[in-house]
Amino acid sequence: MTSSPSDGSFIVELRRSRITLTVPPDRTILQVVREAGIEAPSSCESGTCGTCETRVLEGVPDHFDAVLSPKDKREGKSMMICCSVSLTPKLVLDL
Ligand code: FES
Repeated sequence: MTSSPSDGSFIVELRRSRITLTVPPDRTILQVVREAGIEAPSSCESGTCGTCETRVLEGVPDHFDAVLSPKDKREGKSMMICCSVSLTPKLVLDL
């Protein structure tokens, strides 16, 4: 597995929206996605409600939520984009 860039940022490709964004270390995926004009549902924005759950198509998420089970987290098929980040330089999301 490749490590993330040293500044902590990573790339997120939104496959359905056909755009690629950079998520800096001080922003969440949700914030960056919204700033790009993409609608993404959310509620708690702290990793506890599950509203922002998004399918992961490629890449390995680093989960910081309290919603997914340990098994779900290991499988890495979805993530909470309000709080979780990436272990790989790039994530491809179903957005
Ligand atoms: S908005 Fe609640 S878990 Fe992300």
